Formats: sequence, C-alpha cells, structure tokens
Amino acid sequence: MAETLVKEAAARAAPRPAEADAPSPQAKRGVPVLHSPARPKVAPFWHEHLVPEGEPRIEVSDVQGIVFRGYGSLPACRYVLLQIRDPQAGRAWLRQLAPRVSPGVPAAEQVAIQLAFTHAGLGALGLSEDTLSAFSREFIAGMTGEHRSRFLGDTDESAPAAWDWGGPKTPPVHALLMVYADSESRLLDTLSELRQSWLRHDLIDVHTLHTGELTGREHFGFVDGISQPAIAGYHSAASGLHSVKAGEFILGYPNEYDLYTDRPLVDSSLDRSGLLPLDVEGSPRRDLGRNGTYLVFRQLRQNVPAFRAALEAHSKNPDGSPNAHARDLLAAQMVGRWPSGASLIEAPYHDEASKAAENEFRYQGVDPDGLKCPIGAHVRRANPRDALAPHPGTEWSLAVNRRHRLIRRGRNYGPPLPEGATDQNDRGLMFIVINGNISRQFEFVQHSWLVDPRFNGLYDQSDPITGASSNNQFTVPGNPVRRRCTGLPRFVTVAGGAYFFLPGIRALRFLAESSR
Ligand code: HEM
Repeated sequence: MAETLVKEAAARAAPRPAEADAPSPQAKRGVPVLHSPARPKVAPFWHEHLVPEGEPRIEVSDVQGIVFRGYGSLPACRYVLLQIRDPQAGRAWLRQLAPRVSPGVPAAEQVAIQLAFTHAGLGALGLSEDTLSAFSREFIAGMTGEHRSRFLGDTDESAPAAWDWGGPKTPPVHALLMVYADSESRLLDTLSELRQSWLRHDLIDVHTLHTGELTGREHFGFVDGISQPAIAGYHSAASGLHSVKAGEFILGYPNEYDLYTDRPLVDSSLDRSGLLPLDVEGSPRRDLGRNGTYLVFRQLRQNVPAFRAALEAHSKNPDGSPNAHARDLLAAQMVGRWPSGASLIEAPYHDEASKAAENEFRYQGVDPDGLKCPIGAHVRRANPRDALAPHPGTEWSLAVNRRHRLIRRGRNYGPPLPEGATDQNDRGLMFIVINGNISRQFEFVQHSWLVDPRFNGLYDQSDPITGASSNNQFTVPGNPVRRRCTGLPRFVTVAGGAYFFLPGIRALRFLAESSR
C-alpha cells in the first residue's frame, strides 16, 4: 500500500500530458465518434451519450461492449477458453471472427460475442517479442506466479496447482470467447457455428465455462452488481462519488491522475494498413491499446453450506437455540448489504428493500467506527469510498479511492442451493473485472483491501466473504463491546483464472493481419 501511495504521489507530480479531447487523427479517419460535445445539454440519463464538460469523446464503436454493459438482456452465456496452435491459422480465424465482435454501441441484439487474449495467446498469434513486451508487467507475468499467488491469496485450496483451468497443470489458455444470447437454443446454434470455424483453423477449446440463471443474486443470497463506477463521458452519475475517468477502464484516455494509463504502443512500420490510431500523446507510434482494456477472470467457487453453517454457529442465543434475526444480521454485516441490496448504512438493523438501489452513501461522516456497517464488511473493504486513512472523510480520500475502482461483469455458475439443503454441486461466481491497470486496480483491491489482515485499522482479519484464510476472523464493532467471530473457514476458493487483454475493434483487425 505504501509503495502504491508513493507511486500515486509521483504520478500526481508528473506533468499533465496533451489533452485527449483535441480532434483526434482517428476521428478524421472515419471511426464514428458517438460522443459529440456539440449535442444539446439536456438532463442526461444512462446510455445517453452526452459528453460532460471537459471529458474526452469515447469511441464507443471501437470498444468491446462488455466495458459498458453486462448483457443482462442476453441470459444464455458461455465462456470458451481456446488454444491457438498455428499462428497463421489463428490469424485467419480472427479475420473471420473480428467483424462479429460486438462494439459498445447499444443495439437490440440477440447474440453478442466478445473476445480477449492472454499474453501467451498474443504470442501464439505471431506478435513480435517487441510488441509483446509493450504490454503491462502483470499481464505479461500472468496470474499464477508464486509471488503473485501469495499476494492475491491464491494459496492452499486456491493455489493455481489445483485449478481446473489456467494453472500450471492445465493446458495453456490463449483466448477467451464470451458468447451471449437471448435463448439457450440460439446460444447453442451460435456456439456450434463458431466451433466449426475454430476447429477448421486448428484451435482447440481447452475448457468451456457454463453460467447459471440470471437471478440477480449471488449464491450466498445477496443481490449483486449494484454498485458500479460510472465511466465519465459515457454513463451519467448522480454525483462525483461513482464518476470515474474513462482512462481507468479504457486505454487511450486520461485516467484519474490525468495521465494516460500505460498501454502497448507499436512501431508505425508494423501497421502498414494504418489500422491502429496514432498515439494520442503525440509519439510517432501507433496505439494497439486504445479502446482496449484488461480483463481479469477468476472462477470463484462458493461453499454455500459452509457459509450458512458458520452463520448459524455464530448467531445462536445464549441457550444454544437458533436466532434467525441474529443470523441474517451477521450475514448482512459480513457483506455490508442486506440480501435485497439495502446498505447497512441506510438500514442498519433490518432489511429494507426500498433502499436497495441507494448507492450514494459514504462511510466516514455517518459511521466512522463501523457501528452500522462493520469496517471489515465485504463492500466496505472492496470500496471504502471516503473512509481511507490517513484523511478519511475528505476529497483526498475519495480521489485515492477513485484510482482503485473496478467494473464487475461476472455471472453466477451452478444451481442455487435451496435454504436447508446440501449437495455436492459446483457453484460460484465467474468473476470478471474490467480495468485499465491490473496492478493498481484489481490486484490492489484484492491484496490491500480484501486479503490484507491489516486493512484500514484492522489487524487480524481478511475479507469475510472472499477471505484467503482457512482460520479467518470477523469483528462486528459494538458499543460498549465488539463481537468477534473466530475460526471462519474459506467460503470462496479460486478454481481457475487468467489475465486477458480485451482489444478494441480496430486492434482485433490489426492482430488478424499478417505476423509482426
Ligand atoms: C464469490 C465471491 C464474491 C461474492 C459472493 C461477492 C458478493 C458481493 C456482493 C453481494 C456485493 C454487494 C452488491 C453490489 O454492490 O454489487 C459486492 C460488491 C462488491 N464486490 Fe464483491 N463479491 C465477491 C468477490 C469479489 C472480489 C474478488 C472483488 C474484488 C477483487 C469484489 C469486489 C466488489 C466490489 C468493488 C463491490 C462494490 C462495492 C461498492 O462499490 O460499494 N468482490 N460483492
């Protein structure tokens, strides 16, 4: 954490680069620019592409759609992990597929296809060593190195050696094909057609990940996907709390430091057809990263019986009888929200579904000691909002927080477990994060906020939901006495994962061209 703060201070002191909203060369080359500052300023609503003062125009038609939405209208979905065995055939496959990849422009679609590559996958397509080395360090290194596993909490049952895919004992993964459809039958038809194409081009599917029904609730029973950052220049936001600069999620735009997030720039000679935009910062290089981003994928297995058993065990009356209200309150305190989604800041004692959509709350002014929402609750750790030391409750705290936001686009897998039942089914969350800087965003949140036992004044406990210890603790602050739950097992283990690059649409065409 200290190291990151030093880096942040250095970045703040760095000179401000050229403005990104100057007329861009790529706009001149005919890429439709949907955000026009010339459009009238009326009260904006979600999806209305009005550009607030000072925000750059986002080239929505060159960004893959998952950055902007989770395809909730397309409930059927598979994630296919592919391996490319011949660079030339791989590029020919990509030439066929690239035009079908859905851009960010909202459309009434029945099928949507999204495509991302691991670093090994970009190598398998024939990218030169020089170009491959232009990507971010953590993307190049991948998710499974020994140091990284310790840092991310991927130890013991979660160690990559035990993963179903993406680990050292499973076949290399090169590409992630995300296919969404409005019905299972349309999904199967699309997959069968896509499969013929990848097999014809000598790719193999090393693993297919199914997703569950879109219930809106994760398997522990809580509404999920409520709190997301709003991309400035694309989504409108009710306040500055969730509005985050585009460069935090899309490469090639200013980020929360007013700098351009590191991205792969390539020598112009490698792009003879001029497919890629020029570097917006004015170097003679072409920008392979622009309108692309990084996608973190983790298959998180949820042990629902263990979660429910721990809640029962820690919520009994003094005479040993069960106490349903104490159980539900403890679960809500661990998450920081009630099953309906209502925040404990808004509804500290009982679930109040009418408050489920409320997401403008802060912590420091109303609940500095965590008496309503425990300091260690999952949502308070994953996004501390204004509660960050050393200056909680200030704009400084909010500004630092904005540099660690994540867009979550995951889906459940496996069947829900009815209350009172136990079974052996595999279930959990296909956790997907979109971020421009894996190290400063996903890895920081995972390590410094979720896993680190010393988060924000605590000293002996990691996140109660995703915690990386098989002997975790959870403290519910109280006046006059706090409550401690000890001996909590891991409720969530990692079953697979990888870091991917989600290219922009033009970058996909560049990758499909001849080797470079
Ligand atoms: C199986 C594992 C997980 C479960 C069951 C889970 C569950 C939840 C639930 C119920 C919420 C509240 C609803 C919402 O705001 O969307 C939430 C919020 C959130 N979670 Fe998780 N989560 C899991 C893993 C993770 C991981 C690994 C991360 C980050 C590395 C993470 C980051 C977040 C963030 C950033 C929020 C929003 C907090 C806010 O803005 O207030 N979650 N999660």
